[in-house]
Amino acid sequence: MKDYLNFSGKTAIVIGGRRGLGRAMALAFAERGAKVAVVARSEDGSEIMSELTAAGQPGLYYQCDVADPEARRGLIAKIVADLGGRLDILVNNAGMQYAGNIENCPEEQWKHSEAVLLDAPYDFSRQAIPFMKAQNYGKIIMISSICAVREGGGNFAYGVMKAGLASMARCMANSLGRYNITVNAIAPGIIRTPLTISQGCFEEPRYKSIIQRYPAGRLGEPEEVAGAALFLASDMSSFVNGHLLFVDGGFSGN
Ligand SMILES: NC(=O)c1ccc[n+]([C@@H]2O[C@H](COP(=O)([O-])OP(=O)(O)OC[C@H]3O[C@@H](n4cnc5c(N)ncnc54)[C@H](OP(=O)(O)O)[C@@H]3O)[C@@H](O)[C@H]2O)c1
Repeated sequence: MKDYLNFSGKTAIVIGGRRGLGRAMALAFAERGAKVAVVARSEDGSEIMSELTAAGQPGLYYQCDVADPEARRGLIAKIVADLGGRLDILVNNAGMQYAGNIENCPEEQWKHSEAVLLDAPYDFSRQAIPFMKAQNYGKIIMISSICAVREGGGNFAYGVMKAGLASMARCMANSLGRYNITVNAIAPGIIRTPLTISQGCFEEPRYKSIIQRYPAGRLGEPEEVAGAALFLASDMSSFVNGHLLFVDGGFSGN
């Protein structure tokens, strides 16, 4: 049987791959043989580069504030050239969130959310598509959120943008399927990352109260999202296109 999880010879770009979910996905690809380029906001990418080397494949690191259209310009072409001319997998994962409902979401926060969570995935995807079309092969993964369908009034702009991102995957799948390019989205529930740790999601008594709404009786770990990403980035999912995959311990069905 074909070894679907052998990524040798494949290349991946993980936007926001320096820590958290992006880091776990980057390492999962590298452990299976892919050459991975990481894009993130911080200047120092040395830690994730050491981890990728330890995982078996030295990686590439690019500092970029993805909210800045000038910083995004031409970035994918440069990375693909550095990767040796091929691009198999693009993960649009970079993200942040502002707390608040529509009444306390100033335009500045709305615009910044839009720039990071929608404009950047749109722009990076458009930059990646010509390479994937030329190869007649590509896997694009959007990291959406359960907030796309269950925003509780606390992350207004985030919920709107994450729903838009899931829709972007569906709409892109429509036109790109014929080029053997799949575009899917993952909607994680609350997963243990620097983002959610800083929000206090794993501190008692908050943790105990949050997990009441999770049939799994716990919150998630980054590797559990990486598992879904491996599936969507591999040929196991060759006929899965335009899908929104919940990785939420059953939260969204509750
Ligand atoms: N954790 C969860 O429970 C959860 C649930 C649902 C969806 N998500 C989504 O999953 C994605 C990853 O979240 P996470 O929890 O792993 O967050 P995280 O720990 O805060 O990591 C976010 C990553 O995105 C990068 N990033 C953020 N803003 C950026 C910008 N303007 N330009 C370039 N890079 C930027 C960060 O770069 P630096 O490392 O340089 O700071 C970091 O590498 C996000 O889209 C988030 O919305 C997370």
